[in-house]
Amino acid sequence: MTEVKKLFVKTYGCQMNVYDSERMAEALGASGYVTTDVVEDADMVLLNTCHIREKASEKLYSDLGRLRALKVAKPGMKVGVAGCVAQAEGAEILRRSPVVDLVVGPQAYHRLPQMVEAGGRLVDTDFPVEDKFSQLPERKSLRGPTAFLTAQEGCDKFCAFCVVPYTRGAEVSRPVARLLDEARGLVAQGVREITLLGQNVNAYHGAGPGGTWGLARLLRALAQIDGLARLRYTTSHPNDMEDDLIAAHGDLPQLMPYLHLPVQSGSDRILKAMNRKHSAESYLRLIERIRAARPDILLSSDFIVGFPGETDADHQATLDLIRAVGFGAAFSFKYSARPGTPAAEKSPVPAEIADARLQDLQALITAQQRAMQDAMVGREVQVLYEKPGRREGQMVGKSDHLHAVHVQHPEGRVGQLMRVRITGSSTNSLAAEPVSGPL
Ligand code: 5AD
Ligand code: SF4
Repeated sequence: MTEVKKLFVKTYGCQMNVYDSERMAEALGASGYVTTDVVEDADMVLLNTCHIREKASEKLYSDLGRLRALKVAKPGMKVGVAGCVAQAEGAEILRRSPVVDLVVGPQAYHRLPQMVEAGGRLVDTDFPVEDKFSQLPERKSLRGPTAFLTAQEGCDKFCAFCVVPYTRGAEVSRPVARLLDEARGLVAQGVREITLLGQNVNAYHGAGPGGTWGLARLLRALAQIDGLARLRYTTSHPNDMEDDLIAAHGDLPQLMPYLHLPVQSGSDRILKAMNRKHSAESYLRLIERIRAARPDILLSSDFIVGFPGETDADHQATLDLIRAVGFGAAFSFKYSARPGTPAAEKSPVPAEIADARLQDLQALITAQQRAMQDAMVGREVQVLYEKPGRREGQMVGKSDHLHAVHVQHPEGRVGQLMRVRITGSSTNSLAAEPVSGPL
């Protein structure tokens, strides 16, 4: 019997990293590793990193500092760095941080087991010709009723602030048949909701029966899988919202009425400097078309404040766009200069100005978000139970609109899709009671 070794994985950053961490743990599972939540017990620590903003990258080095003491106490422990910092910094990580044994990029992690086997301090940041997904073991971890599924990776857009095209590489779409197989496997394990992932998932163009398929066609095929009740996808670029995808929001009941569509700024001048290739006006028109197809859709976005050259007037234009759209959720960030990106060459907006703009913007978004959440009170929605709540007899899940909902339902079970009536709204979640009758 192979000796059981323990693996501790820490995931930073985006949902794709969550997906990748799961797949890396499974790949190492085949070499005898079982996962642990206790870092002190680990024989191997894997840090799956994010490079998107400076703060995210810095977390790696502070965590490595902490692991140093642990490794002194336990010299046999291996430390691996995966993800986008691994891709961006490669061997530099080994030089800077003696505790690190392995550095593996996001496109090479199927080779982790061989790297561990080989021993020594190794770096693999290749973009190999083989597709990592076809080399990885089948997904089989015990899981809840929701799962991520990577459909597309990489980005060809080259927004002036963004490292993704460099760390994740060029756009690649996985073939339709592989995705349908993986989805069927997940559903067979009890998954009822799948979120398709990609840095530019709505630019999906995978090889399928009869030619290349777009995202709308893929979603329609996934919707045919018996037992798969809900579909979502993230993240999307406004320029890739094609007519058939918008139409799918109107006529595919499994496709949830929630869309994350980053706009970054509401100023045409800044959008141009960001190389976004769309205007505030074209974004607003797109939103109108999406809402015409699916009037109750909840929109979410990403914003960057303090991009080089941003003036007060540009910032006001962003606030105007937010007022015009009405977002149910959003992520907003202070611009962070990333090495190697075109925007990093330009002089930054003073930090105190950027801080003030971020506060403004977040206050406006929070107010919109809260108003939309409060407006749900009294309405009936569908919730997919993900786990028991903290209170006795309570279940927690997500509504169609991705609101977290606490339902008082002693007979409720994980994986159940339940019709509920919203009875209250608090800062980050809704309260509800079950309603009898069919969904
Ligand atoms: N600085 C700040 N935010 C950034 N993002 C991407 N790059 C940067 C950067 N250099 C944000 C964008 C993107 C989200 C994932 O992260 O808003 O949509
Ligand atoms: Fe980065 Fe998204 Fe722009 Fe691609 S589209 S460069 S991932 S912000």
